[in-house]
Amino acid sequence: MKNLPKLDKQIPVEIVGAGYYLPERILTNADLEKMVDTDHNWITERTGIHERRIASPEMATSDLAILAAKSALENAKMEAEEIDLIICGTITPDMQYPSTACFIQKGIGARNAFAFDVSAACTGFIYALSTAYMYLSNDYIKTALVIGAEKLSSVTDYEDRNTCVLFGDGAGAVILKRTENEGYGLIDFILESDGRNVGWLEVPGGGSRNPASEETIDQRMHFTKMKGREVFKFAVTAMKRTTVRIAERNNLAAEDITWLIPHQANKRIIDAASQALGLDQSKIHYNIQKYGNMSAASTAVGLAEVIINNDLKKDDYLLLVAFGAGMTWGSALIKW
Ligand code: UT7
Repeated sequence: MKNLPKLDKQIPVEIVGAGYYLPERILTNADLEKMVDTDHNWITERTGIHERRIASPEMATSDLAILAAKSALENAKMEAEEIDLIICGTITPDMQYPSTACFIQKGIGARNAFAFDVSAACTGFIYALSTAYMYLSNDYIKTALVIGAEKLSSVTDYEDRNTCVLFGDGAGAVILKRTENEGYGLIDFILESDGRNVGWLEVPGGGSRNPASEETIDQRMHFTKMKGREVFKFAVTAMKRTTVRIAERNNLAAEDITWLIPHQANKRIIDAASQALGLDQSKIHYNIQKYGNMSAASTAVGLAEVIINNDLKKDDYLLLVAFGAGMTWGSALIKW
């Protein structure tokens, strides 16, 4: 795989606002014990998940995203009309088309923006951040709203214990702006994918390969199918690799990182990645115990939580890392 270059001499792009939204309904491990043959101890020991949030039937992904976006706008003290670009990282769009980003545009009234979705599964928010960064740092636009939002419960098979214990719904959003602060804001990305193992994690039905039909419904092809063990092994290697590489090429040691904000698929995967860097546990942002795996929304909510709930200081380093279906993986480094 080609090594992408380190970002250099671009116009600085900083985060000026953040917000998130989690649905109120909580699905606990005890609830799942009544639905499939599983138990709380297995789930917590194998994954670290205690509960997850589930959106109500009338809410689509864009509804979660709109609430996160409004909260980010409020946090940035900005009006929706000031936004030039909306990118939504999601694999659970409201519909096949139009894009969820256009529903979000309508919902918040961002009439001066152009809007589109990015599909990179659990790495979707990092891919979306990097895409917005390219427009901003090349002087094409001034502001962008970047969202990671998922209603994974809409593609989860609550009869399959291998997957139904893992996923939850939520949305996180940040507002990016071009600034004058040389060396601050989004300072590096590593983006990678390997299409050889596309079949390890997928929703096979409902697309142009297997359009929705009685047969696809009968075979439950509209739900997530996952080869858990294969994904797990791949994830440990990919997460370790991207975490260590982005730190090394920015001359950062473990003690220089203020917060590691990893994708929340499995606590064991997060711990393996952080141990590879020698990072103290207190520097890892976990929300897997409360929300489970929210795909693109996991890192988006994690970043927004870290920004909102901590008194970040100038020169703090935030490191986002993720992997997901595709397979895709990557990292983003932010200097506050
Ligand atoms: O967001 C990115 C994508 N997703 C991931 O990153 C997930 C990656 N994979 C994983 O996190 C783990 O592979 C899982 C948590 C999904 C599964 O953990 P594991 O330690 O790899 O378990 P396993 O699949 O090897 O299964 C071990 C046993 C099996 O029973 P047998 O065959 O040993 O008798 C499973 O049938 O655990 C059984 N099992 C369960 N038992 C109770 C699988 N799911 C459950 C369950 N409750 N929910």
